[in-house]
Amino acid sequence: MGSIVTAPTHALASPGAARAADAPFHPRTIKSFVRRAGRGTAGQARAVEELGPRFVLPYAPAALDTVAAFGRSAPLVLEIGFGMGEATAHIAGLRPEDDFLCCEVHEPGVGALLKRMREQQLTNIRIVQHDAVEVIGHMLPEGCLDGVHIFFPDPWHKKKHHKRRLIQPPLVARLAARIRPGGYLHCATDWQSYAEQMLQVLGAEPLLRNTAAGFAPRPDYRPRTKFEHRGLRLGHGVWDVLFVRRI
Ligand SMILES: C[S@@+](CC[C@H](N)C(=O)[O-])C[C@H]1O[C@@H](n2cnc3c(N)ncnc32)[C@H](O)[C@@H]1O
Repeated sequence: MGSIVTAPTHALASPGAARAADAPFHPRTIKSFVRRAGRGTAGQARAVEELGPRFVLPYAPAALDTVAAFGRSAPLVLEIGFGMGEATAHIAGLRPEDDFLCCEVHEPGVGALLKRMREQQLTNIRIVQHDAVEVIGHMLPEGCLDGVHIFFPDPWHKKKHHKRRLIQPPLVARLAARIRPGGYLHCATDWQSYAEQMLQVLGAEPLLRNTAAGFAPRPDYRPRTKFEHRGLRLGHGVWDVLFVRRI
């Protein structure tokens, strides 16, 4: 693998620059997020300023040197869209032997996760504040991941927006190729039609095998977040989908 990427994030800050950098790689397939305004609380901004240089990696279209990025060689889990990082920090604390590469586009979320890392003294998380679709396509070589977490991805519930959902065949095929044989892909959602889409799309990917007959029991490492507790209180369901990469 190449040396750790050091290109500044602002190198791709304008949409035009991002498109130009994309051209030789994968064209953008999904725009799964909207950029929200707001930089969050003063505490989150301070966490970004103080801890960002150590734990936030710049996006650049070149293979990531994970050993240099984490300072060790360890199983690597990719998380897409960690929100405010509640589940991320919990899991990283439970599994100190694993490294977590976590993508989120929303800046307050980055600050919130960095704050949790400081409070819980976590050193096995690195954050890329960038579109995970591009991170997967450009920074992650085939077979480099031991696991992937996609928890409560935006459901894009209107039918005309379903094309913006993350879990669709092209992205799942790309993700599956980046998971080593025996590694896993774990999704969770509280939106039934999306849960069914996850089951169908992952079930149709030849590199993946379901670990359950249909939906999986919630693995112990995935905590019930505040958001999930609220949904459960309102009577909403939650579905876990857990596949492994075929050997
Ligand atoms: C509904 S929230 C769920 C957050 C968290 N996983 C949880 O369970 O609370 C989905 C998050 O995914 C992020 N997101 C969506 N598409 C993304 C992408 N392509 N790359 C990085 N983050 C993305 C959004 O910014 C948002 O914070």
